[in-house]
Amino acid sequence: MCHNAQCVEWQGSSPPVAESLSRGLWSLGSGRLVGMGEKPPKLGIRPALAGDVDAIVGVHLAAALTGFADIFPPSAPKPTHEWLRPRWQELVADPDVATLVAEATDLLGCAVVRPEAEVPTQILLDRLYVRPDRWGKGIGSLLHEAAIEIAASRGDAINLWVLEANTRARGMYERRGWRLVPGWTLPNRQPGIIDVLYQRALADRCP
Ligand SMILES: CC(C)(COP(=O)(O)OP(=O)(O)OC[C@H]1O[C@@H](n2cnc3c(N)ncnc32)[C@H](O)[C@@H]1OP(=O)(O)O)[C@@H](O)C(=O)NCCC(=O)NCCS
Repeated sequence: MCHNAQCVEWQGSSPPVAESLSRGLWSLGSGRLVGMGEKPPKLGIRPALAGDVDAIVGVHLAAALTGFADIFPPSAPKPTHEWLRPRWQELVADPDVATLVAEATDLLGCAVVRPEAEVPTQILLDRLYVRPDRWGKGIGSLLHEAAIEIAASRGDAINLWVLEANTRARGMYERRGWRLVPGWTLPNRQPGIIDVLYQRALADRCP
């Protein structure tokens, strides 16, 4: 069953951002870093800036092309930098959207927390991507935790869509308190591929 008129594509299209939340409530304080050690930071999470867009697109592209390679058939149209860039520009510029980046000397990951009227909680965790050469080093977990912290100031629960066949990401979410929402799916343009919906409570701060 599909509860959303718009299909999520291999290229990563997203449902429209709702207008309902007041402006400016989604940002981390400018320049704030989390995940820093006591020494000079090796990796930090901060709000994205307009100048980050090309690097974010690079991370998104690399993560999707690697992470979804076994999910989509070789014949499926692949995302391109040009295709992804305008939507990322919109997200980074939108004060209702929290766009986070993980950065060491390079930009290594990203995540988005945004309003979305068509999911039960009206808050969506979206576009969690880490550069493939840094997978398994805790960057995704750090971005996830920062996103949860932001979302917790906006509601009691949050949703996300994940490809049904993306077992690695699903396992990560399930170990962090996310639960499948039965009956909610989002068809992809690619036949036979769907996203499933997960929800996580925010109040009890699952580890
Ligand atoms: C999903 C993703 C963001 C995780 O990023 P990451 O930096 O590797 O995450 P972490 O290092 O914090 O590891 C998260 C979990 O994945 C596990 N993991 C790491 N590498 C793994 C691998 N190769 N295979 C399976 N699990 C792995 C870690 O052990 C960790 O497990 P835990 O839940 O027990 O702590 C990253 O793999 C990615 O960008 N994937 C492609 C895009 C994607 O699927 N995004 C999610 C869309 S909903």
